Amino acid sequence: MLGIETSCDETAAAIVVRDQSGKSSIRSNVVRSQLDEHAAFGGVVPELAARAHVTYLDHIIAQACREAGVTLDEVDAIAATAGPGLIGGVLVGLTTAKALSAALDKPLIAVNHLEAHALTARLTNGVAFPYLMLLVSGGHSQFVLVRGVGDYERWGTTIDDALGEAFDKVAKLLSLGHPGGPAVERIAMSGDPKRFKFPRPLLREARLDFSFSGLKTAVRLQAEALAPLSDQDVADISASFQAAVAEIVAVRAGQALVRFADELPGIVPQLVVAGGVAANRTIATALEAVCIKASATLVVPPIALCTDNGAMVAWAGAERFALGATDKLDFTARPRWPLDLEDMKIAPDAA
Ligand code: KG4
Ligand code: ZN
Repeated sequence: MLGIETSCDETAAAIVVRDQSGKSSIRSNVVRSQLDEHAAFGGVVPELAARAHVTYLDHIIAQACREAGVTLDEVDAIAATAGPGLIGGVLVGLTTAKALSAALDKPLIAVNHLEAHALTARLTNGVAFPYLMLLVSGGHSQFVLVRGVGDYERWGTTIDDALGEAFDKVAKLLSLGHPGGPAVERIAMSGDPKRFKFPRPLLREARLDFSFSGLKTAVRLQAEALAPLSDQDVADISASFQAAVAEIVAVRAGQALVRFADELPGIVPQLVVAGGVAANRTIATALEAVCIKASATLVVPPIALCTDNGAMVAWAGAERFALGATDKLDFTARPRWPLDLEDMKIAPDAA
C-alpha cells in the first residue's frame, strides 16, 4: 500500500505492507517537513504549504518506492489523506493519488487523517480493538473510543485551541520560535513549574472536553505583567504552563478511563496516544501515572509515527482495503471531516 500525506506541513509518502493476519511492515516512510518554508511566519501558511506539496510530492513518492524496493506497478492500492486539513494541501495529495489510481488501474482509498492517527497504534504495537485514543496535535485534541476500523465514538474535544496550538502560541508570545512544543519543553526544564498557578479551564466540569484559550490568555497576561522577561521568567512561565496542561490532560484521561471501564466492563482499558504533543515527556509521565492508577495499558507509538507521516495513511488504507473498502475517483477533499460520521463505517457488503 502506498500512503500519501499532505494535509498540513509535512509532505510524506510511505510503503506499508499488511499481511493477511494483520501484521504490519513499514518498507519505507519518507517525510519532508516544511519547517523552513514557514519559519519566518511563526506558523503554517496554507498557500505556501500547498505549493511546497506540489513541488516535492512526486519526488517523495519516488523516494518511498525506491527505499522500499518496489515500483508503482507493484503496489496493490493507493491511499491518500482526503481530509480533514488545509484544503490546498489535501487537494494536492488526493489529486495525485487519483491520477496514480487512474493511470495504474489500482484502487483508491481516501483516508481520514484522524483515522490514520487512530489506527497507528495497530501499525506500531499491534493493539487490539477496542481502545481509547487521546489525539493531541497541532490541529486536534480529542478522546475517541476506537471500536474497530471505521467505528469511532468521539468522547471529547477542544472547544477552542488544540493543545499543540496552545504550545505554539505560548512559544510565540515568549519568542521561542516555531514549532513551539519542543521549544517550550526544552526551556521548561530549567524553570519552576510552581512559580505561577495558571488556570485549568473546564476542569471542574464533568465532561471530557478541553479548553486552552483561557490558559493561553493567562500566560500572556502574566508575561505582560513581568515584561521585560528574564531568561528565568521565560523558563518559569514555560514550566508552569506545561504543568497546567499536563494536569488537565491527566485528569481528563483519568475520567475517560473511568468511562471506558463503565461502558466496556471486563475489558482491560488501553489508552493510546497520538499526535505531535505525545512527544512531551511531562505529559507522557503524567499519563503513565494515570494509567497505573486505572490499571490501564498506555501505548505511545514511536514519536516519528505520532507526528504526521505517510506510513499511518498507508496503514489506515491497508486496514480499510483488507475489509473491502475502496473509494471512487470522484471522492471530494474535505477540510472538515469528523471521525464519528456514519460514512466512516465500512459497508457490510464491501468485502
Ligand atoms: O501531529 P503533529 O506533528 O501535526 C499536526 O498538527 O497534525 O503535531 C504538531 C504539534 C505542534 O503544535 C507542536 O508544537 C506539538 O505538536 N509538539 C509538542 C512537542 N513536540 C511537538 N508539544 C509539546 N511538547 C513537545 N515535545
Ligand atoms: Zn496529524
